[in-house]
Amino acid sequence: MYLNQNHSSKFTRALAFSMSFILINLLFMSCTSNQTMSSDPIESRVDSLLSLMTLDEKIGQMLQKNGADGHDDKIREGQIGSILNTVDVEAINRLQKIAVEESRLGIPIIFARDVIHGFNTILPIPLGQAATWNPELIQSGTGMSAIEARSSGIRWTFAPMIDVTRDPRWGRIAESFGEDPFLTSTLGAAAVKGYQGNSLDDKNSIAACAKHFAAYGAAEAGRDYHTVAVPENDLRDIYLPSFKAAVGADVATLMTAFNEINGIPASGNELLTKQILRNEWDYKGMVVSDWSSIQQLVVHGYAEDNRDAALKAINARVDMEMASTCYEENIKDLLEKGEISLELIDESVRNILRLKFKMGLFENPYTNPNDYPKVLNEEHLKVAKQAAAESLVLLKNDKQVLPLSKDISSVAVIGPLADQAHDQLGTWTFDGNKENSITPLQSIRTFLGDAKVNFAPGLEISRTMNRKGFEEAIKAAKKSEVIVLFLGEESILSGESHCRADITLPGIQTKLIEALAETGKPIIAVVMAGRPLTFEPESKYFDALIYAWHPGTMAGPAISDILFGVESPSGKLPVTFPRTVGQIPVYYSQKNSGKPAADNTWERMDDIPHEAFQLSIGNTNHYLDYGFKPWFPFGYGLSYSTFEYSGIAIDANTFSLGDSLTFSATIKNTGEFAGKEVVQLYIRDLVGSRTRPVKELKGFQKIFLKPGDSRKVSFKIHTNQLGFHNQEMKYVTEPGAFKAGIGGNSEVDMSLGFSITKD
Ligand code: NOJ
Repeated sequence: MYLNQNHSSKFTRALAFSMSFILINLLFMSCTSNQTMSSDPIESRVDSLLSLMTLDEKIGQMLQKNGADGHDDKIREGQIGSILNTVDVEAINRLQKIAVEESRLGIPIIFARDVIHGFNTILPIPLGQAATWNPELIQSGTGMSAIEARSSGIRWTFAPMIDVTRDPRWGRIAESFGEDPFLTSTLGAAAVKGYQGNSLDDKNSIAACAKHFAAYGAAEAGRDYHTVAVPENDLRDIYLPSFKAAVGADVATLMTAFNEINGIPASGNELLTKQILRNEWDYKGMVVSDWSSIQQLVVHGYAEDNRDAALKAINARVDMEMASTCYEENIKDLLEKGEISLELIDESVRNILRLKFKMGLFENPYTNPNDYPKVLNEEHLKVAKQAAAESLVLLKNDKQVLPLSKDISSVAVIGPLADQAHDQLGTWTFDGNKENSITPLQSIRTFLGDAKVNFAPGLEISRTMNRKGFEEAIKAAKKSEVIVLFLGEESILSGESHCRADITLPGIQTKLIEALAETGKPIIAVVMAGRPLTFEPESKYFDALIYAWHPGTMAGPAISDILFGVESPSGKLPVTFPRTVGQIPVYYSQKNSGKPAADNTWERMDDIPHEAFQLSIGNTNHYLDYGFKPWFPFGYGLSYSTFEYSGIAIDANTFSLGDSLTFSATIKNTGEFAGKEVVQLYIRDLVGSRTRPVKELKGFQKIFLKPGDSRKVSFKIHTNQLGFHNQEMKYVTEPGAFKAGIGGNSEVDMSLGFSITKD
């Protein structure tokens, strides 16, 4: 039962509220003269409340506990600041009532949950959302997720994850926005805006958490939690911009990472959370550790024991400890022995209280689910479907087999992911339910009618190792005009700590492909996975290939709309696709090296003559067996239409530092389908005091064009967007020569030259 409907508890609550407000305000007014009160109303409330708190209550605010059970007494004593992983609104309201009405100061609890890509309505995995290159759509998705989560009493999500990563072996690439700092920054900021809305105290907002600070995506060999070694310049140029953008978007909280960076674990790293975040970026929000990551400072071999771990995390300005108990067991002793100051503790508690006031938690601590629309409502499903449709990347359509005609006589729907209501949801879907999924098989049947669809999965699940389903699959293929083959990875094969050293298609999917190819029927492959998979050799059997990631609840309708041309594909890769795992890391914004490989570089080891003279095959930066190019470049994705770029120009040839530069191009839809194109601007700084990448994404716009229509697209770039961190760790734009290019993927012609002078 919802508490507000209970008259007596409503009264008690109101009374308790007014009492604590009166008390707080009285204290505020009669505050001791040595305490300077802020003129900012929220800061004043924070100061007032802080001045009433005992040390135990302060430490309590710095603790985050798991689950709903066993915390009543602690809450009553005012010793828990936040709880995660409870989504039962009655349990949440009950615990909140203890905090607000039975604890001495009535400080409400923040209830948190991993709302990563949807709450009950599941959106595509973040990597799929990144493939939409559509910040507005991402913002609508996180906005709708916030509303669904709020209806369960959740006020804080641990999202977005804005770790740049260049390693598809890493399971959490699924949860990322891909390899590029600019794309991740733009989409991450949009996600934050969607969760938080216009104001944190809005009825539909939840606090966001930018994670994991920092460089978690650079784990050695793509193995989760592993060592990270990144020069500080690259840390600042590649891994930190997305966090700076989130701070710019007023993200309420940040989470530290599990990994170490250059020898110092992130949850006790003063350079990151004290120097850069607080001092350089002036961040006033709250920092939470990751799950037991403070305790893990001991496991890393960076702290002697839990006490030392608490000391290091506090010194690094980590405000709240998730799950482990280093803070609650050791802060008092550290204070008594003078190893930390009360000011440090007060600072953390201020950050926590400030957030609670900003969220309006004191005024509205409870949740009435009736104040919210039903979850999984039509509008939410529509957003989820659109996000899924725009996340699909068409990688191949050589013979224009797609879109399929609505009048097609029959389709064989085959493959281990054609009808997997659970797996299409992807990783991190604690509150998603497969009962709500619409699978591709269901949607294709709805679209064509049951009679035209011949279904046989061929393999039970993606890892199946026996061929017992092959015969039926071949039979289904033979009696159909075309095969739509759903391949890929189950959801459990990506996500946290679900890394793979071999990223080919699991199980015997290759054998299934070969068997089906023998039928001679056209094959349209739809691959669902939490990461780029390497299956270039198998792709020769496909007439068309759609990369679908894990599309979420509405996978079926979205895929069927694309297959039958209701909508043209518009997704673009947010990450480079390697040809083979040995090429990793392979990413578009690489450095040139002193011996760059060229287009005529050797790439078939078999062709090297026996006893060839050592220098005869050239000495460049390439592999003998795989050349130097990826399978598909970053930013790549086809449409059913074609887009022609012309008039690529810049408004002048020479600029001064401080100027704005305007790049433009005209894009024409020269095909027969209406569709969206992602117009991408890349820039290269030719010479730097540290070497610069061969190109960097500096702008993108997603535009819609009807057949025959054209549009001029412009990008305004300030010279300070062309900088980097130099040897002295200063962010500088260095005068000199630059090149630029505008196109539909990162393999763009970079011949547009300009220069920047000092003044
Ligand atoms: C550990 C994960 O690394 C983090 O991303 C998540 O938010 C927490 N667990 C809480 O579930």
